Amino acid sequence: MRVLITGASSGIGRELARLLAAESDEMILVGRNEERLAALKQELTSDKLTVRTVSMDLADTENCVKLHSDYPDIDFLINNAGFGDFGAWEETSPDKDRKMIATNVTALHVLMKLYLADMVKRNSGRILNVASIAGFMPGPLMATYYATKAYVVRLSEAVRKELKQKRSAVRISILCPGPVKTNFAKNANIGFSFYGNDVKKIAKYALSRRDRFYIVPVFAVRLSRFFLKIAPAPLVSSIIYKFQSTRKK
Ligand SMILES: NC(=O)c1ccc[n+]([C@@H]2O[C@H](COP(=O)([O-])OP(=O)(O)OC[C@H]3O[C@@H](n4cnc5c(N)ncnc54)[C@H](OP(=O)(O)O)[C@@H]3O)[C@@H](O)[C@H]2O)c1
Repeated sequence: MRVLITGASSGIGRELARLLAAESDEMILVGRNEERLAALKQELTSDKLTVRTVSMDLADTENCVKLHSDYPDIDFLINNAGFGDFGAWEETSPDKDRKMIATNVTALHVLMKLYLADMVKRNSGRILNVASIAGFMPGPLMATYYATKAYVVRLSEAVRKELKQKRSAVRISILCPGPVKTNFAKNANIGFSFYGNDVKKIAKYALSRRDRFYIVPVFAVRLSRFFLKIAPAPLVSSIIYKFQSTRKK
């Protein structure tokens, strides 16, 4: 199996790479931090597994196109690279917002489009898009981030239906965790993070449920998703605003 993971240099992506190493022949690990990618390559390389690292900024769409042309024919694409930002919407950096949209939305969109076309032609392959429980609700104080994840959810749901209609064997899933202990909170300027699930557990759960479309680890998060289906958006906004307010620096 030939696997490509974006955002493999830390957190969820790195754990997914560690777990998938045993069942892969070749892995392409993508991120910006060359040192961390090299360390992971050293850790995972074996007689049975070739690991290639690609250090690139996926916020640049040309890099996404180059990635696909350099590494076509992927069996399992994990679109995981992403980050958030915390703060009142008009006060957060427009440049960081632009990069967040370019990474969380555009890069995921472009890579999924390019690789899915190959997979549909072959009638084989799998895509896991890392969304978030944030993709199912409005997110005051992390408004842009939540909106980027809503894009991932809706895009994936629609494409899933198209694949089903044409009876394609290509599989697509979305991973929708709640808070996970990674570098995410630090990079998002979240001051206080009282709760976070273990990244190893989340990655293991994600791979064990890979044949499902919605992959929602942790019972409490699954319960909150049920609530989100029936609760009105203004009520959800108020609850999330209160929750996010506790995370100020
Ligand atoms: N942690 C949570 O609470 C949580 C909850 C739900 C969903 N998620 C989602 O899970 C995914 C992984 O996040 P994480 O929690 O594992 O955080 P993390 O430890 O900060 O990892 C983020 C990964 O994305 C990569 N990345 C970010 N921007 C990039 C860019 N422009 N180009 C290339 N790579 C880029 C980072 O690599 P470099 O720094 O090397 O570029 C890193 O490998 C994200 O999509 C996030 O939204 C996280």
